[in-house]
Amino acid sequence: MTAIDYSQQIPNNVNLAEDRRLQRALESWQPRFAQWWEDMGPVGFQDKPVYLRTAVDVGQEGWAHFDHVRMPDYRWGIFLSPQQPDRTIGFGDAKGQPVWQEVPGEFRAELRRLIVVQGDTEPASVEQQRHLGATAPSLYDLRNLFQVNVEEGRHLWAMVYLLHGYFGRDGRDEADAMLERQSGDPDHPRILGAFNEQTPDWLSFFMFTYFTDRDGKYQLGSLRESAFDPLSRTCDFMLKEEAHHMFVGATGIARVAARTVELMKQYDTDNVAPHGGINLETLQRYVNFHFSVSLDLFGSERSTNAANYFAAGLKGRFGEDNYEDDHVLLNSEDSYLVVEGDQVVRQSMTARSLVNHELRAEYIEDCAKGVRRWNRALAEEGIDVELALPHVGFNRQVGAFKEHNLTPAGDVIDSAQWEEGLSDWLPTDDERAHVASLMAPQFEPGKMAGWIAPPTSGINTNPVDYEYVQL
Ligand SMILES: [Fe+2]
Ligand SMILES: [Fe+2]
Repeated sequence: MTAIDYSQQIPNNVNLAEDRRLQRALESWQPRFAQWWEDMGPVGFQDKPVYLRTAVDVGQEGWAHFDHVRMPDYRWGIFLSPQQPDRTIGFGDAKGQPVWQEVPGEFRAELRRLIVVQGDTEPASVEQQRHLGATAPSLYDLRNLFQVNVEEGRHLWAMVYLLHGYFGRDGRDEADAMLERQSGDPDHPRILGAFNEQTPDWLSFFMFTYFTDRDGKYQLGSLRESAFDPLSRTCDFMLKEEAHHMFVGATGIARVAARTVELMKQYDTDNVAPHGGINLETLQRYVNFHFSVSLDLFGSERSTNAANYFAAGLKGRFGEDNYEDDHVLLNSEDSYLVVEGDQVVRQSMTARSLVNHELRAEYIEDCAKGVRRWNRALAEEGIDVELALPHVGFNRQVGAFKEHNLTPAGDVIDSAQWEEGLSDWLPTDDERAHVASLMAPQFEPGKMAGWIAPPTSGINTNPVDYEYVQL
């Protein structure tokens, strides 16, 4: 086998050149990754130069290096945020003790599981989005899609590095299995439900990057608190890249709404579908769908596993430092919503059992910020329609609401009423078909498909009409 020049091919700050054992593990994994990218990565465009951001270092200068690169030549690097000297465990039973540089034997299985579950989502989203290139609404959007895709690939590398570097043989097996499961495969599905759903059109892509990548932000944020320092530092660096994914979602949805408003005014109607637009009520139904399936990713509100992870210092809350409590959560209470009869009521219990709920609550508040921004833009245009997040109990398959039917407003209803309301609340087949019918590519620099407004600015100070992908 030819030796790989690691600092060139795999930019890293983990001293790969010096670590023979890790080199050997990655040497056998890399061709499998390359094969997976070819088989399951973006369809087409692989030989086209794309204006991509590559992390070549963790510092200000190095983490966002822009250039035209062909995707298979993208340098998937391994980066951890710099180690903080004297960092101590910030929460749980071992709060205040030094963090771990190696995996403690007693938490090995749990840590491996947490890394595998997070790692599995990264290639899953690339698989879900692999057909979207063909219908990109602009070169700007095409580039953003590929940027998200290569970075999710890098996030897989980040998790595989931890498995190879800290878990030996079973870590290597888990790293291989990441490339064997496939999104939507009935026999070998991805681990989490939302990552087996299709991302069939660009509206779904924007919703996915807004709502589902944001779940990623919260999961990574809670793992950034981990007592296992290499995991913490890895997640901290991944969060930098994740911010762009959510930007793509937030601005994507805003641009769809802006174009809709333009058409509403031009044709003096709420129904812009015949004019090649996407109605605001369709946007609302997509929001209802993507928000509710993303909530399921947080697991059950009340969770013994999550409490154990918290107790052990494996997984904390998002921004643990910002909480003004004891960070141990044994003597405090929290509450969550459950259904009793036909009422939604609050139930109290020890805060430690409700850390999933707490993480989800922070997530919901973060989601709401973007919705408020979209609504401000609508109001400025004189449109008196507001988008809204549905009730937390709407359309849920996991947790306290899974046996119940709730409307987006939060009323408990029976299954007949649910069936009746469904077409008001979730995207209908006709609506999805209409959205699909709008998905025609627009590959002329600076031009946009008719259902979406241009972005307010380009990437990295380039103009909107820059040739972001050279076709
Ligand atoms: Fe990611
Ligand atoms: Fe992401």
